[in-house]
Amino acid sequence: MALVTTKDMFEKAYQGGYAIGAFNINNMEIVQGVVAAAKAQRSAVILQVSKSALKYAHPKYLKAMVDAAVEETGLDIALHLDHGPDFETCRDCIGYGFTSVMFDGSHYDYEENVAKTKEVVEYAHAHGVVVEAELGKLAGVEDDVNVDAANATYTDPDQAVDFVKRTGVDSLAIAIGTSHGAYKFKGEAKLDFARLETITKKLEDAGFHHFPIVLHGASSVDQRCVEMCNAYGGKIDGAKGIPAEMLRKASAMAVCKINMDTDLRLAMTAAIRKSFGENPAAFDPRGYLGDARTLIQELVEDKIKNVIGSTDSMK
Ligand code: G3H
Ligand code: 13P
Ligand code: ZN
Repeated sequence: MALVTTKDMFEKAYQGGYAIGAFNINNMEIVQGVVAAAKAQRSAVILQVSKSALKYAHPKYLKAMVDAAVEETGLDIALHLDHGPDFETCRDCIGYGFTSVMFDGSHYDYEENVAKTKEVVEYAHAHGVVVEAELGKLAGVEDDVNVDAANATYTDPDQAVDFVKRTGVDSLAIAIGTSHGAYKFKGEAKLDFARLETITKKLEDAGFHHFPIVLHGASSVDQRCVEMCNAYGGKIDGAKGIPAEMLRKASAMAVCKINMDTDLRLAMTAAIRKSFGENPAAFDPRGYLGDARTLIQELVEDKIKNVIGSTDSMK
């Protein structure tokens, strides 16, 4: 068994009307919690690592833990660089054995994003690695946002087709109203599904059959975890994520990869706060970190089974 790329898992997800969960990993308990959930649900999974996670844990440790997960579970697991900031980081991760990299050039102007993405794609493909890129800027959406402001940051459908054509990327992260972190909406949650549909249709018409779309900033911000944090000394007010039914809808459409990090952070923090609150005399890290791992597993299993629908994707 070895790590896989996302190519086959995305095609199966597209055909099956579900999405693969991409979970950010930073330490052993997160890896084990996510992977135990995927194993229990017989689901393929993407474990992704940000630049700050590389700095925190070191790529060699992260790669070794993910290799162990593959060996222990026999699951299809892709190891992905999340928000790669430059060519060098993508190249280094490919060298460490990652099977997928994201180059995030969304903050560059369009032509620069195309040129830099293309350079990463050429290098990655020559090494058997797939590439995700991003077009449009993720931002928080305010209730009173005007259409022009929304259009300025959301992904333009015609540009998306041109971008895929010119860069040769394998998947594309788009902006339709999601945002990173725990505070995604001040008012009602809203995603631009019509834009997702237009992008999908235009890509299909341009000859990109079943082209996989990626949704970043897709945590639901589980209110039970927020309440648990607050009940044990936390101060997380007004946190709000993407409703599960919206993620279900996106998964049934062209979205093949759904990114979640905030939900894991909240679960881990909630479990540790509760453990400290209830057992003030305890000081064995295996107690509170074990509780954190268990809550992460429960949360990820619920996502796989009831939200993104990737249960039994290993068949
Ligand atoms: O998209 C960002 C991810 O949540 C990673 O966050 O850079 O703090 O690890 P991080
Ligand atoms: P959340 O902050 O919604 O978990 O998004 C994570 C993400 O997009 C990682 O790339
Ligand atoms: Zn992201």
